[in-house]
Amino acid sequence: MKTIYRLSLIIISLILLGCNNTSEETQSKENTNKNDISYTEEGLNFAMQTQKVLAKNLMNEIKTNGTVAAITFCSSKAYPLTDSMALVLDAQLKRVSDQARNPNNKANKQEAAYIAKSKELLGKGEIIKPQMTEVNGKMVGYYPILTNQLCLQCHGSQDEELKPETLSQIEGLYPNDKAIDYKVNELRGIWVVEMNKK
Ligand code: HEC
Repeated sequence: MKTIYRLSLIIISLILLGCNNTSEETQSKENTNKNDISYTEEGLNFAMQTQKVLAKNLMNEIKTNGTVAAITFCSSKAYPLTDSMALVLDAQLKRVSDQARNPNNKANKQEAAYIAKSKELLGKGEIIKPQMTEVNGKMVGYYPILTNQLCLQCHGSQDEELKPETLSQIEGLYPNDKAIDYKVNELRGIWVVEMNKK
């Protein structure tokens, strides 16, 4: 499932490269695009590496101690794991959502706009592209996080995948949880990767 996620991101980045290669823009604009592309790729790589660490730890915990225990694990380890990856990669990394479980992960206005646009594209069966913008001298990349079957045991529907004991554990830790009722291949949130300009 991790592989599917990674593959879809790679496909997205390939499409992005393909589009820019065929664009008929001026030389100087092309140069800017090339830089943007290398930042987009670098950010994608950072997001994938961090995702991999989170997914590996999550799956281990589910296998060893079960879904309910894995919620507590997510709750206490998602931030430290992400932060330690950020340190290794020398970039700022966070996961945000328009329907956040942890209120600290609520998307800001710009992130929410990208999420809304991406959801619209996904709804039409189109491909979502990452987005790279320069904000206050930093390169900030947005990368989609899609759901797969594994996610639904904690982000799915009460009538289907989400067991009562899982839901009550979630409600206990996150009284304002908005992150349920997802189906597979929906936009759960985005990675936001902030890199220094080189
Ligand atoms: C064992 C339960 C569990 C599973 C399985 C799970 N999550 Fe979560 N997820 C959580 C918890 C708990 C949080 C809140 C973490 C925190 O407080 O930082 C969370 C938070 C998130 C966030 C951050 C935004 C927010 O809502 O706070 C994203 C994005 C996310 N999950 C995506 C996924 C995806 C994609 C999958 C499947 C690959 C998945 N999750 C599988 C429990 C789970």
